[in-house]
Amino acid sequence: MVSKRVPLLLFCLIIEQSVAQNTRSVQMLIVNGSQFQCANTTCPPAATLAVINILQCQTACLNQNQCTGASFYLSSFNCELFDGALSSNGNMLASTGVTSMIVINGTRYLSERTTTSVLNTATTRLTTLISTISSTTSSTTTSTSAPFTGAKDTVPMSYARYDHTISILQNGKALVAGGMLNASLIWDSSELYDPSAGFWKIAASMITKRSGHTASILADGRVLVTGGYNGTSASNSAELYDPIANVWTATGGMNNARRGHTASVLNGTVLVAGGYNSIGYLNSAELYNISTGTWIATGSMINARKAHTSTVLRNGKVLVAGGSTASTFLNAVELYNPTTGTWTATTTMSTARAGHTDSMLSNGNVLLVGGSNGYILKTAEFYNPVSGSWTATPNLNDLRYGHAASVLPTGGVLAIGGQGPLSSIELYNPTGNTWTVKSPMSTARRDHVAAVFPDGTVFIVGGTSNNVPLGTALLYSP
Ligand SMILES: *[C@@H]1O[C@H](CO)[C@@H](O)[C@H](O)[C@H]1NC(C)=O
Ligand SMILES: *[C@@H]1O[C@H](CO)[C@@H](O)[C@H](O)[C@H]1NC(C)=O
Ligand SMILES: *[C@@H]1O[C@H](CO)[C@@H](O)[C@H](O)[C@H]1NC(C)=O
Ligand SMILES: *[C@@H]1O[C@H](CO)[C@@H](O)[C@H](O)[C@H]1NC(C)=O
Ligand SMILES: *[C@@H]1O[C@H](CO)[C@@H](O)[C@H](O)[C@H]1NC(C)=O
Ligand SMILES: *[C@@H]1O[C@H](CO)[C@@H](O)[C@H](O)[C@H]1NC(C)=O
Ligand SMILES: *[C@@H]1O[C@H](CO)[C@@H](O)[C@H](O)[C@H]1NC(C)=O
Repeated sequence: MVSKRVPLLLFCLIIEQSVAQNTRSVQMLIVNGSQFQCANTTCPPAATLAVINILQCQTACLNQNQCTGASFYLSSFNCELFDGALSSNGNMLASTGVTSMIVINGTRYLSERTTTSVLNTATTRLTTLISTISSTTSSTTTSTSAPFTGAKDTVPMSYARYDHTISILQNGKALVAGGMLNASLIWDSSELYDPSAGFWKIAASMITKRSGHTASILADGRVLVTGGYNGTSASNSAELYDPIANVWTATGGMNNARRGHTASVLNGTVLVAGGYNSIGYLNSAELYNISTGTWIATGSMINARKAHTSTVLRNGKVLVAGGSTASTFLNAVELYNPTTGTWTATTTMSTARAGHTDSMLSNGNVLLVGGSNGYILKTAEFYNPVSGSWTATPNLNDLRYGHAASVLPTGGVLAIGGQGPLSSIELYNPTGNTWTVKSPMSTARRDHVAAVFPDGTVFIVGGTSNNVPLGTALLYSP
């Protein structure tokens, strides 16, 4: 590659940046119109992230101790992070449309007292720089859809984990809670990903270690977690996360210890059903009264089951489908009526399945994908609550178990990864009743979680890849 040395500091300023919980000032050099290069070739970045502006790129770098510099690409909104391999600031490649930033050695953890008028002036200039860049690209940044197509890795979490939960909070951040590193190391930790800042922050730890638990967002914005494996057994405990105070608080304990159960938010209550514990598989169900913080038993399901799905229908009833016990995979389906507190059998699925995913389609039908009946499945079918019938979709392209499914704002459903492990992703189009292969993830994974941010970007987090637990996460837009 032919490269032309350029003067190092075409544009240099010092930025005040507050990072994470502590107010810390950090200085970076801004180099406009240049990208990093090594001695004889362009430096490969340690990570490439999707960001929405240069400030997010800068913050992502400052949040990683090993990041020594970052390059922001105006046309693609890519943010490249570089590690200590960058030996020299003086070696840059002229490149229009790229703004590079260099962490000034020894300044990453400056204390608050360095906030001076000089820094404040610099902050104003950075804000100007950002608004200049944003205004030239407003058609991209103001779009309601994701600003890119395909997969973009984010910075990783602090803790690799699988069998965790993800909840998109009302403030737009993603809360990831619990899960495990391996069979003997269960996490009580939780972490928050802020999509507008592009970084993870450790959140308060749960009171109890949990994997295979549930997490439900309540109408008031708090998150209720219930049960799960606590390192010794299934737990009956529950706790509430308050996103404003960043505090977990114990709430009433369930009548039964459960893992592999489901939780569904109803009007003023949360219905928990099934699962298993050291005694056996459960057909019991109970209701959490959100205003009193207490649990009362409700009608028991017809079938004991774990690894089933529970979906709140438009008519207010709850569809519980499939699952398994020690000896059986179930095709049995039942409906919970919150008014009477009772369960009624409805039409069985064409296939027994456990460990499948459930997705509410925009027409009120419920799509179930994959799972296992002893063999991993590539079938999917949807339930029509009006006719009470099941209809098969065409087969998926891949067998999927331990996958995730996300409903896109367009109405499509993404089936993501799964046992294999798989890096593949495919999209269900309810209008055409078709499955289409989309671009894959950079890492094959199973037992991950996925959720959709308000801008329609799918956020895929953690899991395992060939038995290695993952701390990595990615943003995905088909
Ligand atoms: C390029 O740099 C690498 C490491 O810095 C070195 O090993 C290699 O020999 C160099 N190649 C050339 C053609 O100079
Ligand atoms: C940066 O500072 C660290 C200590 O804080 C030191 O070990 C390292 O050599 C410095 N790097 C450069 C390029 O000056
Ligand atoms: C960065 O450089 C481009 C030309 O390469 C110029 O148009 C732009 O104004 C510069 N931005 C700043 C903040 O200096
Ligand atoms: C789980 O991981 C921890 C930390 O790496 C390790 O010390 C422990 O031996 C692991 N346990 C198993 C069962 O792999
Ligand atoms: C796990 O949960 C069970 C049942 O709730 C409880 O008896 C046990 O003490 C808990 N163990 C840990 C390590 O929290
Ligand atoms: C929720 O329950 C309250 C009483 O507990 C009732 O007034 C309200 O209409 C219910 N809302 C819905 C959507 O069912
Ligand atoms: C919660 O409990 C209170 C007190 O017993 C009761 O008045 C209220 O109706 C309950 N809420 C629901 C949704 O059942």
